[in-house]
Amino acid sequence: MRVLITGGAGFIGSQTLLQLLGEQHEICVLDNYSNSSPMVFERVAMLSNSAFELVEGDVRDRDTLAKIFEGFRPEAVIHFAGLKAVGESTTFPIRYYENNMLGTATLLQAMDAVQCRQIVFSSSATVYGVPKYLPYDEAHPCIPTSPYGRTKYFIEEMIRDWSAATPTASAVILRYFNPVGAHSSGIIGEDPNDIPNNLMPYISQVAVGKLSKLQVFGNDYDTRDGTGLRDYIHVVDLARAHLNSIDYVAGSAGVETFNIGTGEGATVLEVIQAFEAASGQTIPYEINQRRPGDIAAFYANPAKAHNLLDWRAKFNLANMCRDAWNWQSKNPDGYVQGPK
Ligand code: NAD
Ligand code: UD1
Repeated sequence: MRVLITGGAGFIGSQTLLQLLGEQHEICVLDNYSNSSPMVFERVAMLSNSAFELVEGDVRDRDTLAKIFEGFRPEAVIHFAGLKAVGESTTFPIRYYENNMLGTATLLQAMDAVQCRQIVFSSSATVYGVPKYLPYDEAHPCIPTSPYGRTKYFIEEMIRDWSAATPTASAVILRYFNPVGAHSSGIIGEDPNDIPNNLMPYISQVAVGKLSKLQVFGNDYDTRDGTGLRDYIHVVDLARAHLNSIDYVAGSAGVETFNIGTGEGATVLEVIQAFEAASGQTIPYEINQRRPGDIAAFYANPAKAHNLLDWRAKFNLANMCRDAWNWQSKNPDGYVQGPK
């Protein structure tokens, strides 16, 4: 299939690109590199031994999109492009609404112009907000608690409205839990611009000596050891969910929403232990205050993805830590230097 990947230079997009190339899909990537580096593509090309089209541009730019839709004529779109930092979204909310929502509206209009009707969208478990019950299933109420989360939820609604007005439209909305890890080769992985906000990249940078110690945000939660519990999902498993979703949209109409997680949670202390075991490094840490806005625990009920997408996670926490460490230790400065 001819697939346009927006945000394909990013952490999840680049892993998905690699897998789609492995299945002989024809790919065009659109990215403005606002949170990524085009250097990733040399690595993807090396791993896949395949060619693909690259367009440097913004998903909010109508002319760029029109050229792609008229030239490459994608049959389906996987839409990763977006800003994703929760804390930053509370400081610059309009930047998030503008980039994420206007970007998606512009994309859907460009798709309509050429009757491209299939889309897979990157949403987040953050749309659920404070759990009313766990595990979250897809019917759990959505009351997101940050501007970022609200952009994801409003885009979901935009896609549902678009689909309702367009009988041939087919959309899959994937609500990712906590994506971590890297390709097993250690050649592509997560490359945060600044000091990481998220747990696994932070631990990786402590392990490699770039950061001195981890701050554990609270040990007085109602969890098995008092630290926050999350459903970590290997990025390679997550990328594979997009391949299943592309097949699904090709054979259906309407919108379906899926949780993409393992269904199992790990606490911060369990992640530290697993990372130490995988890397052989000691992770110095200290217990600090709770991070404002954090939730004690959340994890997925992934049964719907098992049943309708025929997808389930294959990798466990030990695999995630092994691959995160392999990537980090081979690329301590991310894509700045070539892999060791
Ligand atoms: P990422 O920042 O690594 O990748 C996003 C890519 O989109 C980047 O390459 C960035 O340069 C590009 N981009 C951003 N705005 C753009 C624009 N206007 N035009 C063109 N390109 C643009 O993030 P990721 O972790 O790969 O996440 C991909 C998607 O998944 C995002 O939409 C994110 O909100 C969502 N998501 C991520 C997580 C996570 O923890 N990583 C969790 C849930 C959902
Ligand atoms: C964050 C985002 C969420 C996003 C998710 C995806 C926030 C508030 N939420 O959530 O929208 O969908 O990432 O990856 O940012 N922790 C520490 N020390 C650290 C970093 C984290 O103890 O330095 C703890 C946190 O308190 C939490 C756990 O580790 O209990 C996981 O944190 P993180 O990786 O930031 O993910 P989320 O909090 O789930």
